[in-house]
Amino acid sequence: MTFELLERDGLARLGRLDTPHGPILTPTLLPVVHPDPARQPIAPSEIRRRYGLGAVITSAYITWRSPPLREQAESSGIHALLNFDGPVMTDSGAFQQHAYGHLEVGADAILGFQRRIGSDIVTVLDEFTEPDVDEAAAAKAVETTIGRARAARDLHRGLLAVPVQGGRHADLRNRAAAQASEIGDVLAVGGVVPLFEKYRYPELARALLAARPALAPQLPVHLFGAGHPMVFAFSTLFGVDLFDSSAYLKFARRGDLMFPSGTVALDTLREPFCRCFLCEKMPLPEVAKAPPDERVRRVAEHNLLACAAEVAKVRQAIRDGELWELAERRAAAHPALFAGLRTAIRGLRAFIPTEPETRASFRVIGALSGLRPAAIRFRARVARWKESKGSFRPHPLVPLSPLGLRHSPTETRSGEPIRWEALTGLGPVPVELTELYPVGCFLGPEEFDEGPWRRVPLPADIETGELPVDRDRDWSGAWTERQVASLLEWQYGGEAARTLVAAGLVGDRSPRSGRLRAIRRGPGAPAFVVGVDGVPRPTWPGAELLRSVLPHPQSRIIVQPDAVEFVAAGRSLFSTFVQGGDAGLVPGSSALLVDPDDRLLAVGRLLLAPHEMGRFQRGVAVRVIGHAHSREPQIEESESGPRLGEASAPPDLAPDDS
Ligand code: GUN
Ligand code: ZN
Repeated sequence: MTFELLERDGLARLGRLDTPHGPILTPTLLPVVHPDPARQPIAPSEIRRRYGLGAVITSAYITWRSPPLREQAESSGIHALLNFDGPVMTDSGAFQQHAYGHLEVGADAILGFQRRIGSDIVTVLDEFTEPDVDEAAAAKAVETTIGRARAARDLHRGLLAVPVQGGRHADLRNRAAAQASEIGDVLAVGGVVPLFEKYRYPELARALLAARPALAPQLPVHLFGAGHPMVFAFSTLFGVDLFDSSAYLKFARRGDLMFPSGTVALDTLREPFCRCFLCEKMPLPEVAKAPPDERVRRVAEHNLLACAAEVAKVRQAIRDGELWELAERRAAAHPALFAGLRTAIRGLRAFIPTEPETRASFRVIGALSGLRPAAIRFRARVARWKESKGSFRPHPLVPLSPLGLRHSPTETRSGEPIRWEALTGLGPVPVELTELYPVGCFLGPEEFDEGPWRRVPLPADIETGELPVDRDRDWSGAWTERQVASLLEWQYGGEAARTLVAAGLVGDRSPRSGRLRAIRRGPGAPAFVVGVDGVPRPTWPGAELLRSVLPHPQSRIIVQPDAVEFVAAGRSLFSTFVQGGDAGLVPGSSALLVDPDDRLLAVGRLLLAPHEMGRFQRGVAVRVIGHAHSREPQIEESESGPRLGEASAPPDLAPDDS
């Protein structure tokens, strides 16, 4: 197995697929190239050099069908025929069979041909299933395809792409995905070109959601026919790693320009609004008047560049944890794509197991932002939290500032707790949880409304003295205590939190911003450092404390004996050396790395979700960030500057001010 996950944002991943002709860095587009160089306006070597798209796909069937191409491919190989020494995937001809109604070659023959011509990724001949075929016919096509895939696997040791068909039948898609996962090296979701052509994105989302839970997480997923830059972010959200399409050329032939924001007909253009380095040479209104061949070539070049740039954008968004933001921006390209994204969001369950604990930011883009998995998961946890705590009253300061808490009593004079919730862009959130992702880094239009500060009245019973509280006291210390206990409970549960607090843990706030930045027990290294995401992360001393408090295997990843020494020395834990652990952890969670006897080796942060560990044959599962011999962690000052709304000191909530 040759696929490695390097970075991720939820289901989306940056990966590396090794092939005999070098690695393919995913996600990426494999542009479809014609095997006859005379019919391919942009040479594969140029696609790589000039556009940075490192791998291509070509049709084995079209090569086979033409005697001169077939002969040349058989004698000198597909790479020589294409004059390209990077990775070449070949497709089997299922799409041509679908388009022409028949194929002059059988499954075994086209497989053998792909092997003989030296394809880096060989595709099984599938039975293309239209979205609207009935269940019986779709089931038969899946069966035929999987049968051929099993036969192919017996012959072919190299990379094998197994198509996942099933039409619009969710259970069939799921079963096809499960069966393909047992056979293939690349899982290729097919039968979706008609969905792309007719903008049936909600159905595409449903097909991907149905397949997703059964697709082996350690294998790259290919999506046949995804070739418009407006769908790359959308498709990648579901964990699609590879796209292939000839759309850049097909669109060019009919005079359509691709942009991530949608399609523009060349003939309607009067303004030279694309200034990409290709369009700059000849402004688009002139391209429209160029001779047909040149026109097609120039538009194809523009389209390919638009695709390449969007692939880079998607990759950067994954690194930055901003893929949902990008997908929401792209959904503005067409209401149908917006509908597709809305369908994706309804498939929440597919996203949750790999939804990261935290991201650097949460920015509102549009109507779907508040429905992202991160927001829904947070709100659901908050709802459970509130149920366990009793009633909350709205906090009078909007937006809340940690510095504004010193005048907010946490209890009545008789010691009854008073609980406050802040009115945030994600709804009312208990004040003690407001520094957590996604609400702590939430940036929405609310932050810009009505000036930086707004007051809602103090609750009447406090105002009138009916609820007797000490309004002269500085409540900051009480808030710090409550927040430390709450964050520990949020992370580890109520019982563990009580034990930890009883062990003498206290909070430490940034004097400038008022945000909690560390939790410590006495002087020296803190037990937890609180990041900008509001999450307390154990240091080595904190991990030792947690190990003694949390029941096995909570918050732990268990390291196989072979790797114990390496992990204890501070090396990252590789997927193949994971023995087990806490299935409730998610990517980005902090974890205690322990040996099989529960001795603490290191503290790490998960790259893989627990269910993915051991399945990837390559790469890191947990990044080690602290071990017995590491230097003391530095507390990061939580902000580089004041957050919006904190530019000036918050208005005082002292009695005379209310
Ligand atoms: N190209 C576009 N769609 C498909 C498909 O479903 N299967 C194969 N093999 N190739 C395709
Ligand atoms: Zn352009």
